[in-house]
Amino acid sequence: MNTYPILRKGLFLLPPETAHNLTLEMAHLFPQLAAGWQFSDKKELNCQVGKTEWRSPVGLAAGLDKNAVALDFFSRLGFGSMECGTITVNPQIGNPKPRMFRYSEEFSLRNSMGFPNNGMKECAEKLKTRPTSFPVGVNIGKSKNSNPDEALEEYAQLYTTLAPLSDWVVVNISSPNTAGLRDLQQEDWLKKLFETLLPLKSKLGKEIFVKLAPDLEDETLRHLTTVLADLGADGLVATNTTHMPERGVGGVSGRLLRVKGHQKRRVVLEVARDRHLPLVGVGGFEDMNDVLAWWASGGEAFQIYTSFIYQGPQILRDIESHILGFLTRAKLQTLQTFFSLEPRERQKLIAAFGR
Ligand SMILES: Cc1cc2nc3c(=O)[nH]c(=O)nc-3n(C[C@H](O)[C@H](O)[C@H](O)COP(=O)(O)O)c2cc1C
Repeated sequence: MNTYPILRKGLFLLPPETAHNLTLEMAHLFPQLAAGWQFSDKKELNCQVGKTEWRSPVGLAAGLDKNAVALDFFSRLGFGSMECGTITVNPQIGNPKPRMFRYSEEFSLRNSMGFPNNGMKECAEKLKTRPTSFPVGVNIGKSKNSNPDEALEEYAQLYTTLAPLSDWVVVNISSPNTAGLRDLQQEDWLKKLFETLLPLKSKLGKEIFVKLAPDLEDETLRHLTTVLADLGADGLVATNTTHMPERGVGGVSGRLLRVKGHQKRRVVLEVARDRHLPLVGVGGFEDMNDVLAWWASGGEAFQIYTSFIYQGPQILRDIESHILGFLTRAKLQTLQTFFSLEPRERQKLIAAFGR
């Protein structure tokens, strides 16, 4: 039985951040609670994202478990992977509260958190205890007050400390809630970033992904994707939350981001596919229709955050059973076989067997 709707009713009586912290604390203390949602690992759902094999194409997006306190719980729940962070070098308290808002009728959230987190040392300790079979990426960001040159030094420290304990690293230059962060989506700064990180990567080997904002013009996104491919990025994550000034400060996620997220991802994908750059989709995924649209445009793995808050763990079981049904109807042994097909071939299968 899916108990989440009842649980959500109670949690939604609380302010969003209180509900969030309470749930995460429970998940940290009682990872065995995940058993209620009956995850069973299905090898046919494994998929390759860069060098890492995810257990399924559905990852948990950054920001939900910033400090990696509930890795065991999210692993047991059956996420294909998880991105913790955003982590900064030192602990930060983030922006003043309230800084998380619900738009329940629109299945959306807005946040202006500003990277509250316990800092890289504590995150490193948590990552040391992670379940070995659970792929985990770490999302890293600059501190509230650092300038672009200091930020370079911070990203180097973060990569050096956290890359050895994770499967891949995501450089966050796209949150709307840290002053000056999105300015780092500039070619000159990115060049310096990769000059700093690539020598470290040659020693530590962990892939470097970059997370992009949806609030860039299409032409800028295409250019940025080309620049990042040339600089040696291993992959991209798109998109972060979107700024909607009429709603207030911060970034909006969930259904209100759905159309824009999909459109911007397609723009990035046009270039990323040509350059063989993996792109993790995120932003507004809430059901199998979104997944099929993503796959039809050439995408593969994706992450969720807001739809997980509204639908709970059942969203994982629903999407898994739809994918397994699709594979059976299309007579495909594994999801990876489907991902290896040419886009036109994929579209034909989706049209014939998607629903
Ligand atoms: C409350 C909240 C906090 C977030 N914190 C982070 C963060 O620290 N770092 C980051 O890269 N993205 C963060 N995100 C963005 C998500 O990872 C994701 O990109 C965005 O919410 C769009 O996905 P969704 O529509 O499935 O929620 C946050 C999102 C929310 C709602």
